[in-house]
This record gives sequence, C-alpha cells and structure tokens, in this order.
Amino acid sequence: MPTPDSLTTAQHHDFDLEVVAGTWPADVSGEMLFSAPSLSGSLPYGIFDFGAMVRLSLTPGTHGAAADHFALRTSVIETPSRRLFAATPDAFTPGPLGYTSPFGPPNSANTAPLPWGDRLYATWDAGRPVELHPDTLEYVAEVGHIDSWGGPSMGGDTVLPFLFSSAHPVADPERHGLWTTKLEPVSTPTFGMQPSVVWWDRTGTEVKVWPLEGISFPGSTHTVSQTRDWVILCDSGNFKADAGEMFGGERTVTIDAEVPVWLLRKDDLLSRPSGTPVNPVSFRVSPPNGHFYARYDDSDGVSVVWEGMDLMDLALYLRPDDVDVHGNPVNPASVGLYNMAMAPETITEILFEPETGKVIEHGAFREDWTVNLQLSAMDWSLEGSSGPTLHHVSYQGMRPGRVTRRAAQLYEDRIDLSRLAEETPGYLVSFERGSMEPTARWEYPDTSELITSPTFAPRSPAPGHYDGGEPGGHDGYVVQPVISDDGFRVDLFDAAAVGSGPVASLKGTNRDRIPLVLHSAWMPTVTGLADADRLRFSDELTDDRMTALDDDQRRLVHRVAEELDAR
Ligand SMILES: [Fe+2]
Repeated sequence: MPTPDSLTTAQHHDFDLEVVAGTWPADVSGEMLFSAPSLSGSLPYGIFDFGAMVRLSLTPGTHGAAADHFALRTSVIETPSRRLFAATPDAFTPGPLGYTSPFGPPNSANTAPLPWGDRLYATWDAGRPVELHPDTLEYVAEVGHIDSWGGPSMGGDTVLPFLFSSAHPVADPERHGLWTTKLEPVSTPTFGMQPSVVWWDRTGTEVKVWPLEGISFPGSTHTVSQTRDWVILCDSGNFKADAGEMFGGERTVTIDAEVPVWLLRKDDLLSRPSGTPVNPVSFRVSPPNGHFYARYDDSDGVSVVWEGMDLMDLALYLRPDDVDVHGNPVNPASVGLYNMAMAPETITEILFEPETGKVIEHGAFREDWTVNLQLSAMDWSLEGSSGPTLHHVSYQGMRPGRVTRRAAQLYEDRIDLSRLAEETPGYLVSFERGSMEPTARWEYPDTSELITSPTFAPRSPAPGHYDGGEPGGHDGYVVQPVISDDGFRVDLFDAAAVGSGPVASLKGTNRDRIPLVLHSAWMPTVTGLADADRLRFSDELTDDRMTALDDDQRRLVHRVAEELDAR
C-alpha cells in the first residue's frame, strides 16, 4: 500500500488523544491547526472539495478534553458556497477542477490555516481568504468585497465569485495587513495570467489591487512571501491549466524547469491608488516550487528558502482506471489523490539583491532520499522570521504506487525510472538557514505510515504571543503528525535535537484515524471572535449576479444570506 487507506476512508471527527510514549513537556502550548478538503468522493480530484478546519490542542485538559488528554476538534467550513451546496447539491456539477454551478464556483477554503494575531483564516488558490471563529471554528466572513477585488478573475459575475488567488497570503507584522494575489487572463504580452498584488488592512471590507504591468504567465501564485520592504511573488510552475484536458482530452502540459519571480517594494505599492499598474523587479529560479519563505530582515538583501518541487506536477491525480508506474492497478483508496513526486527534491536558499540584480545561491541540498518534500516548520514570529536559525522539513519518501504510468509516460524524458523502483522512508530534517546544510535527521522507516505537514511551537510563549524562548526555530518543538491506518499519531521533537527522536507521542484513545490533511500552522491562544467590520454575503447580492438563477435558487440565496445575517 503506497500511502495509508485512511487518507480517503477515514472521516473527520472530534476525538481526544493521550500520551503513548515519552513525557509531554510542560513548556509546549498553543493550538496546531490543519486545513483539509473534506474528500466526499464526489469529485474526481479530491483537493478541490469543501474545506474543513482541524484543531489539535497542545495543552492537555483544554477544549473539553480530560486533564491528561488532548482535544482534536474539526469543523466543516460553512461558507455561503457550502451552505448553497448543502441545500441543493444537484445544482453543483463535479469536474476535474472542482464544482461549477449557476451560483458560480464555490470557495472551498481547504488548503491552509492562516493564524494572524488573534484571528484565524482558511485559504485556497481559487477563492478569497475565509475568516473562522478561532474557538468554535465556525465560518465568519470572506475577505474583501468582490467589487474592491476588481470583480471575479474570469468574468461571469455570479453570486459566488471565482477568484484565482494564493493559498498562502502573508500577514505583514508591521503594516498590519495581508498581502495576497489575484490572477486574470490577458492576451498580451502573451496569452496567460496577469498577476496583481492584493492588500487588505483588515479594518474594513475592501482590498486594494495593483496589476503587474507587462507580466503574463501560464501558472499560479501559490505562495506570497515578504521581507520588511518587499513582497515576493513567483509562478509556482507546478499546477498548469491544460485546455485539452478541460475539454475531455489527456493532459499534455508539463511543469516548467524554471520559473519567474517578482519583487515589489511595499511602500511603492501602498503609495498608489488601487488599480494602478506596477513594475516588479524580476528574477528566475529553478526548480519550480510550491512554497518559499523569505527572511524578514532584508538589510543585506532578500534571502529566500525555496522548497523545490522538482518533478511534482500537482495537476496530475489518480483515476480509478490508472495503473501505477510498475503496471499494477492503483489502490482504490488512493483514487482522487494527487500523483506523488517522480524525483528527489531540491531545497535552496538564494539571496537576491534587487538594486543590483545579483542572484547569489547560498546553499542547495538534494540527495536520493529527499523525495516528496511535503512541507516545513519554522518560527513565524516577527523575531523568528527576522533571524531564522532552523528550517524543519518533512520528506514523505518515494511512493511509486502513487505515481501513475500515465504520469511517468508524460514525463518520460525527465524522469529516471530506476529511482521509482521501491518505497523509501520518510524523514524529518532540520536545515541551517543560509547554508541549507542539514543539522539533524530523523528517519520514519515504516513506509505504511505517512508523515504530513509539521509545525513549530516556540518554547514557553507568553499568552497570545507567537514568540517564546530564543527566536529562529531552534528553541521549541517540532510537531510532526503521522497518518497511519494503525491510528493517527503526533510525534513531538525538541527543535534543537530532531535527530534524537520524539520526546513524546500522542495517539487517539480509540486508535482514531484521520483523512488527508494539507497545511498546518500554530496559533498561541484561542480567544473569542475579535471585534471588526466584516463583509456580509448579503452585501454582494445584486440582481445582475442572480440573473442566471431560477426562482427557487434566488429564494435559496436570500435564505442563506438571512441565516448568515441573523448570526
Ligand atoms: Fe501550499
């Protein structure tokens, strides 16, 4: 079995965990959050399904758990999209890129949790960030009136707007706003998507949007990163639209070997009215990447860790009729999941000098075992991101049973099939920032397990604070979730000594399993809902947006708006 069946067969549910090994330290606290698509089985590609938020408390005896137990709580995010779907599922047509409907495409908000001060958001690439109540995890509001976003990305003004954006907006710790993106199709300079930088100062219901003049590209902007003075965008390069596939054919588009990067000076953006075109400083990086993280301090240049996705094409997924790279039928429990990596991955740290145009590679690491670079854990506090010390990365290992023959044929010129011979262990690895030298490594030899997104919890943070102990990523804990059909497990590592193995492990009291989860994040405290002026679903309902709806559908939209307004 290439990956645990529970990825698709388990159901999200609330349960409590207990310590099954080691001693849980007293100086770890806060909440670990996970975003997840709900994997209803109704969509060919599960990563487009409606989002859930999962919260694991790192302090025992909280959120209803017994004194020596740890609460895991889950909520399906009841956005307007999800409420309309629940009321009339037949109006939503499943396709390889998610649902379409006369209401518009739903916002699935299923990819990443974004804690921001005392507020919590859920994000994805094809919709606005969604605010959640940090305590109840209930839906609160979407970010930014659609008119302030300049309308939907692809025209077709509907009740549910389609916004092609970023699953990883970044919160500005000094300007107190959120940087994200919007993509729109253009025909010049080439046919492709034009990116815009989007800014939301979180005090109101409007965003500002600045298009990048003269830029078009064929990919997506999955991550946004920042330094004190710069916003950094990049063509993620690993999820490309394929018109032939959209019309029912086989995918022929492949991912790039190199992608463009755009730097924009924050003060320059903020000094211009929304809608003013801006000119970025442009670079290129290789290989393509899903995720990148800049050091916040840019006094000696813009230093960025690039988590490479060398041959990881996220547009490829497993179909029921697929065979794997060895010719065996794919595990039915893997159908609807993404096609996993076809080569080891490279992690690099690169210093850019925007003024001189210089690009200096500080360090790169890639070995035979650096396969399926899942995600990473770092200190997100202002102090930690200004002077990062350690970057902790989870590699899931090679899983040939989740690489299809179709994918291998599409990439036959670029892959080495001998590397796909057998399953390899997963690893949690600490890298030194700057040099990208590994300083510690822990092996997960049991390939029936799958490690997933880790997170960093600082040591002894003050209540409500994202910093604690010494900043940078070494003084605290790495929380490593492990998906297993034998029950979900949480391994806790001393961040300065990952190679010594877990200091403690948690498991559900009933060997509880969990399904696929995507990104994770750490939040110091859960308080009530912050006071703020928020967008309401009813604020966007115009007659024009409802022209495609029949009378019943219009009544339903008004009913959902009234339900949400009455909360
Ligand atoms: Fe991501």
